Amino acid sequence: MWKKIFGGGKSTPAPDGDDLLSNLAVDRERMPRHIAIVMDGNGRWAKAQGRSRSAGHEAGARTLKRIVRAASNMGVEVLTVYAFSTENWKRPHREVDFLLNLFDSFLAKEIAEIHAQNVRMRFLGRRDRFTDRFLRRMEDTEERTGHNTGMRFNLAANYGSQDEILRAVRSIAQRAAAGEITPEEIDETFFSNALDTAGDPPVDLFIRTSGDLRLSNFLLWQSAYAELYFTETHWPDFTPEELSRAIEDFAGRSRRFGGLDAQE
Ligand code: FPP
Repeated sequence: MWKKIFGGGKSTPAPDGDDLLSNLAVDRERMPRHIAIVMDGNGRWAKAQGRSRSAGHEAGARTLKRIVRAASNMGVEVLTVYAFSTENWKRPHREVDFLLNLFDSFLAKEIAEIHAQNVRMRFLGRRDRFTDRFLRRMEDTEERTGHNTGMRFNLAANYGSQDEILRAVRSIAQRAAAGEITPEEIDETFFSNALDTAGDPPVDLFIRTSGDLRLSNFLLWQSAYAELYFTETHWPDFTPEELSRAIEDFAGRSRRFGGLDAQE
């Protein structure tokens, strides 16, 4: 049975859709615990508006701010977003520089609010190609929000799932070679805890904006049984309302994890 879980109606709708979220019609036990988002389409959004790709990324950053706040208000446990892939270094130098500066200024500007929302922030991916300044920013952010007990917000930057899996395999192999663990100890939980997302539940709902129907090397292990939600909406136009629609869609799906429905 559906019931409203987020309080009663408010009179003045908040611009970020908080009012709509307060009426989300989803049973708490059917809420996705972990939502992953491929924030695609900044470039196409900008092109459609006759604006620069940079303007598209800036608009994408504003959307991210709203979605983090909305997901946290909705009681999502973990939100993981794909900001920059190990393959994105192939983009023109100017765009890469722009994006990395945008991430840096986003963190500088938003950290106080993220912290005030009791959100714990963590970065997924390789840390070997970033500037010292950005590395310090990442470390400061993780340290400052590390004790927060609200939503966990993972930002994947210089991230690729296959790379993450290989790093985990190598570190496990080294520990086995050093005699610290036996091969028999390596089960699903053990392996999950060797990934960058250690401690997080598996992805329940995997969202990709802007129409492409692929996973793009994002959270492949973690999304083994994720429900997929693809939308034509370009990331800058993605709203808390659409997030709540994706969650309602998710809540209506039958998840069998390879088994059968209860009534079967
Ligand atoms: C995909 O759009 C987006 C990216 C490669 C970067 C994601 C970055 C943001 C959403 C900006 C804000 C992020 C932070 C962390 C502040 P695209 O450029 O591939 O779009 P296109 O496929 O339409 O060209």
